[in-house]
Amino acid sequence: MSPEANTGLPGGLDPLALCETWGTPLYIYDARIMQEQLATFRAAFSKLPYRILYAAKALSNIEVLRLFRKEGTGLDAVSVEEIELGLRAGFSPSGILFTPSFPSAADLDRAARLGARINIDSLSTLEKFAGCDGADKACCLRLKPWLRTGKSPEAVERWRADSKFGIALEELDTACELARSSKVRIEGLHVHSSSVILDADVFLEAAGALFEAAGSIPGLEYLDFGGGIKVPHREEDPVIDLAGIARCLEPLYRNFSQEHGKELELWFEPGRYLVSRAGRLLARVTGLKKNDGEVLAGVDTGFHHLLRPRLYGAWHEITNLSNPGGEPAEYRIVGQLCEPDDLATARMIPEIREGDLLAFHNAGAYGASMASNYNSRLRPAELLLQDGEAKLIRRRETLEDLLRTQAGA
Ligand code: LLP
Repeated sequence: MSPEANTGLPGGLDPLALCETWGTPLYIYDARIMQEQLATFRAAFSKLPYRILYAAKALSNIEVLRLFRKEGTGLDAVSVEEIELGLRAGFSPSGILFTPSFPSAADLDRAARLGARINIDSLSTLEKFAGCDGADKACCLRLKPWLRTGKSPEAVERWRADSKFGIALEELDTACELARSSKVRIEGLHVHSSSVILDADVFLEAAGALFEAAGSIPGLEYLDFGGGIKVPHREEDPVIDLAGIARCLEPLYRNFSQEHGKELELWFEPGRYLVSRAGRLLARVTGLKKNDGEVLAGVDTGFHHLLRPRLYGAWHEITNLSNPGGEPAEYRIVGQLCEPDDLATARMIPEIREGDLLAFHNAGAYGASMASNYNSRLRPAELLLQDGEAKLIRRRETLEDLLRTQAGA
């Protein structure tokens, strides 16, 4: 059982009752867990001048953005729309870092007008940005990621060349020269290495390289290490030692400050670390079927609501809320789509009966935010559980929502 599977809902809220009221499928998020995750992050880095920018892409509901804004974080936005959401949630423009991929000139222009900070990941985007209107232009430069591709030390790909993201280290001088000649100030250096934070040693190597690159850029204000901090989905998954990572970062930071006589801020952009554990997708069992030696349990959801198992083979703990004491048996959990949409295979779960309510755990990050209307299915409602109350933060979609953008409807 995964670490969060046993966690009850706050304020004695009953998931079965919530589903009676709001229907299924239903996303529920526990605000307290988000706050706890944030507090753990803060405690780990408390000896460093750090700043946290919540990665909106993980869960972009405006009430969740508001929660993090009230907690004092900044925002990592990947689209102009996420900047707009952030502003509506009350973030100050300078608290938002826009890290787009292949933005159009119009995107850059809009982001600059909105006052967001801009993170640039190619020479051509830098040229485009330099051409945008506006005085006193500043940007952050995003370098290529570091990735671990295997277990050995040699299996770390430094500044991974084939990534679509980032400026190669060899291009950094050219980028700086281009910025200088176009009067764009470089205020930050950024690297987001996806799974890298799983390996403290790889993370620290990448951090060391970032500090080194930072030494040659005058006027720099911050180093941004991106997100990518994994959360355990199963008992055997490693738990990231954030405090340990911070402890190793401290001497690197001190050395840099002494050598260069300046104190940079260290920025982090966690998404899943802050919201994954807080979220569950609740779904109703719509039928059972014996199939060539296995038992299929069909649920009123699928990869249109939770894409991670299908897209990444992600493992989400599943509990049977209606029959927790039932005799465990092996099930394949499938959804309602017109193509294979397994949510789990060969999973031991207490006896499942038609009508039972299943919870998919660790679904706060990249669950609702990656949901779609495939098969003309409607997206679920979302509830934020806070102060003992369940607040509806997105109503269930209706057929009218589907038709709203269709000209011929
Ligand atoms: N910063 C940047 C520049 C990013 O590209 C991302 C995620 C983050 C921060 C936040 O990463 P996190 O802390 O959430 O891992 N859909 C995939 C994850 C895609 C992540 C894309 N970038 C999933 O469901 O696992």
